[in-house]
Amino acid sequence: MKILAIHGSPRTIRSTTRRLAGIVLEGAAVTGAETEMVDLADYRLISCTACEACSLTGTCIFDDDVPALVSRMREADGIVFGSPVYIDNVSGQMKVFFDRLADAIHYQVLAGKFGCAVATTHESGGDDVVEYLNHVLNYLGVMSVGGFSVATAGRSEAVEEAGPAARELGRKLAGAVRNGFSDPEQEAILADNRSYFRTVVEENRDFRPEEYERWVRMGWIE
Ligand SMILES: Cc1cc2nc3c(=O)[nH]c(=O)nc-3n(C[C@H](O)[C@H](O)[C@H](O)COP(=O)(O)O)c2cc1C
Repeated sequence: MKILAIHGSPRTIRSTTRRLAGIVLEGAAVTGAETEMVDLADYRLISCTACEACSLTGTCIFDDDVPALVSRMREADGIVFGSPVYIDNVSGQMKVFFDRLADAIHYQVLAGKFGCAVATTHESGGDDVVEYLNHVLNYLGVMSVGGFSVATAGRSEAVEEAGPAARELGRKLAGAVRNGFSDPEQEAILADNRSYFRTVVEENRDFRPEEYERWVRMGWIE
């Protein structure tokens, strides 16, 4: 089992968000999961220009690191999203990455996976950012097992103090991958999303026949 954490702090190895996501991975690793950390700031991410090429061809016009990151998410069983709070939202790095996931969202290429979310902040916006990260996981077809934020008020020890909760979240994520996890509210959201994106897949049937066939095989198009 593979659990992949992706965090959007530009502070990379000095990042408190990275540390928090790392503790979540430690919790998963204790149960035997293989874990990986992605520092988004170390990768080339070009902002989406809404050219719609991906929608028609499945391939972005930009030759950067996003396709490789999507492949890594596809190979993972569990995904941890982490972001620092920047002006009450995710960091720019995280948002540029998310905007480039539109095609992965439309075609639900990560459906069936499990995830969770963490954020750190000085004071404000932490829970809203966790909610947003989980919302993006749901958009991707990923069921979240939860998440939480840490407001450090400048004290880096605050992240270590949150260690038990972070480890527990990692254990829960690994447990969901192994044994399943049920949340009727999210299941309804995931079903609604699929029914909404089905219209996109149907409209693009002539351009993306392989994806259309995959949706038929998955039973998402009758
Ligand atoms: C550009 C920028 C914007 C920030 N915006 C907020 C904010 O709106 N509210 C807040 O409480 N902290 C804010 N912070 C503080 C960070 O959220 C906080 O230091 C976070 O833990 C940094 O995480 P990192 O070490 O992973 O980068 C901001 C920091 C930066 C650099």
